Order: sequence, then C-alpha cells, then structure tokens
Amino acid sequence: MKVNIFKTASEIGEAVARIFVDEVKANPDCVLGLATGATPIPTYECIKKMHKDENISFKGVKTYNLDEYCDLPKSDKNSYYTFMHEQLFNGLDILEENVHFLDGNAVDCDAECKRYDNEINEAGGIDIQLLGIGNNAHIGFNEPAESFTDGSFKVKLTDSTIEANKIYFDENPMPHYALTMGVKQIMAAKKIILIATGPKKAEAIKNMVKGEVTPLVPASVLQEHNDVLIFLDEAAASLLD
Ligand code: PGA
Repeated sequence: MKVNIFKTASEIGEAVARIFVDEVKANPDCVLGLATGATPIPTYECIKKMHKDENISFKGVKTYNLDEYCDLPKSDKNSYYTFMHEQLFNGLDILEENVHFLDGNAVDCDAECKRYDNEINEAGGIDIQLLGIGNNAHIGFNEPAESFTDGSFKVKLTDSTIEANKIYFDENPMPHYALTMGVKQIMAAKKIILIATGPKKAEAIKNMVKGEVTPLVPASVLQEHNDVLIFLDEAAASLLD
C-alpha cells in the first residue's frame, strides 16, 4: 500500500481524478469501479472538470458501482443510482447503457448478485476500483465479519453504518439491507484507490495500514493487494506514525 497524505480534500480530489482521467485517456474502453458517499465527491467534481477542459470522452468507459441499498426505489434521492447520476454521470458523455448497478429491488437477490458478478467478469474485470472506508473499516458494504466475503451478496448493515448514513434520510427511514460487491471481488481489481478524509476515519485507517489482516477490519485485506494507493488528509492520517 502506498499512502499519500494531502492537506485538503480538494487536493486529494484533484490527484485521484488525474489518475482516473489518465486511465481513460490511455485506455478509452476501461472498466471503472466506483464508490458513493461524501468522500469521492471532490474527485467526481474534478473528473467532470477535466472531462470538459481536456475534452476527454467517456463514451467507451464502463462503470460498476460497489453497492446499492435494498428496498429503495431507484429514483429515490438517496439511491446510489441517483447519487452517481447527480454527482458524476450527468456531467460526462458516458453512455447510460455503460453504467451498472446492483438492483437492490431484485426479487431474487442471489440471482441478481450472480448476474452482476458475471457482467463484471465478461467486461474483463475492473481496471481501477475507487473505495471509501467506513468508520468501522468497511469497504463497499463489507461490514466487520468472521470471514472475508467473496462475490456480491445481500448484507445487513451494522449499527455503525446506519448511524453514519442516516443523516441523509429525512423522509423515509434508512434501509437496513444492501447489495454489495464482495471483498474477493474488490481485490480482483487491477488497481485500487482508497480515499479517507476527516478525523472519524483515523482509527479505521490506523487499523487498515498497521493492524493485522482480519475480516474484523475489512479494509485490512488491502495490505495483500499489490497495487493500492491510499489518499488521506492529515486528520484521517493522524494516528499513523
Ligand atoms: P463516506 O462513506 O464517504 O460518506 O464517509 C464512506 C464509506 O462508508 O465507505
């Protein structure tokens, strides 16, 4: 893991966006794994700006999002489908048929997860996977558990995750289940970029970087991947030496 520490979230956004845009320039048909949450927003802002200023087309790019809530209409303001369109896709020339999500409303979740995993494999796997990290060190919605997960699956969200995200749900209650890519699948990405900002992430970052590899700290598995870049602000890095 290579750890990069920046002063501000917007500097991180610029550095990470540069890596994604350079990938799209070099490989216009690349496959990107994308994340939601507050953390990637500055990166998405910079990707949209670079797309426009540098005239980089995303028409050949395919994206796969990490996770999606269950039992929330796709059109809900809090669905990750809506988030991604508002924060990124509507500002790019990416084709709607090339953006992919797990369907959290699928009647048969197991079949839906298999469909998603097969599609990613058929696309040739993920070239760059973007990750945030939960206060409990989850990646995607892989919560602390007894063992590392494999492919996509339906997960019951932990109290910590519900506590951290319920602020976004003012009208309807926050869903307690989601579909998420699994840990093994995330680890299959050729390159992984994890961003963490703010003091609430410091403990998870310390455990991820310095602790033992354990499914109780899901992000610790990234120690075993050979191409991981970690981008932190000073607050998130504050418990590292
Ligand atoms: P956040 O979420 O970016 O909103 O902090 C990150 C995550 O839970 O993975």
